[in-house]
Amino acid sequence: MRGLSRTWWRRAKKANQHEPVSMRFYNVWETVSRFAAENRTSDFMAEMTRRRDAHGSEGMMGLLDCATLYGLTRWQRPTVVVESGGFVGMSSAFILKAFVDEGLTTAKLYSIEWDADCEQGALVPDELRPQFVPLWGKVEDFVKGDQLPASIDMFLHDSSHSYRHMLWEFREFWERLRDRGLLVSHDVNLNAAFPEFVAKTYAHNKKTGRLDARRTSHYEWGRCGYIGFVIKKEKAD
Ligand SMILES: C[S@@+](CC[C@H](N)C(=O)[O-])C[C@H]1O[C@@H](n2cnc3c(N)ncnc32)[C@H](O)[C@@H]1O
Repeated sequence: MRGLSRTWWRRAKKANQHEPVSMRFYNVWETVSRFAAENRTSDFMAEMTRRRDAHGSEGMMGLLDCATLYGLTRWQRPTVVVESGGFVGMSSAFILKAFVDEGLTTAKLYSIEWDADCEQGALVPDELRPQFVPLWGKVEDFVKGDQLPASIDMFLHDSSHSYRHMLWEFREFWERLRDRGLLVSHDVNLNAAFPEFVAKTYAHNKKTGRLDARRTSHYEWGRCGYIGFVIKKEKAD
């Protein structure tokens, strides 16, 4: 029995050495946390806090999560971003500010909101509006129509936080994300949709029990505060 288990261990160790675990995405943690920390002490954060307090903060993304979202957007440097649940534009403003700070002059944020009474995007500062594309209606209808870009770099879920709806949006927009595209979700604590979605992207190596990087369809994923993110992997290494 002891001999058998030593053989298994040697094989597992050898398999691990040859496993093509990607190191390319290890910088995401350092980079996102640095950008988020800068953002939290910035004049922009002070201005957005003032706007939030003047409006009343109910229903908006919290400031810690906004800073993480800003950091993720700067790290990803997207050209096409879609967000569901735009509401008064707290999350939108931080994505748009990341565009400007990264010099992404052609980037666009498509922000979907179905509540016609909510002053969609009211908190977005005027200077950030040229890259803001507010879309009024249900996410369900936009995915059926042709108003959304066919390929997107980053998707943020912040609409209805029911288990079924979150999983539906994750699946729907994952399909539209390019290789290395970023799926971001707010309020991942409210049900098991996000961890279950991430779990489905794993493939395991039978010998080691660790992820098989060739067949796993994400490069990296994580959770910070109430924000979860997954980086899509479409192609084999
Ligand atoms: C939590 S709030 C979004 C907060 C916003 N991201 C912010 O930081 O200011 C959720 C919003 O999603 C909208 N919503 C819910 N279900 C939706 C759907 N199926 N399609 C479009 N919008 C939806 C609601 O009307 C609500 O305004």
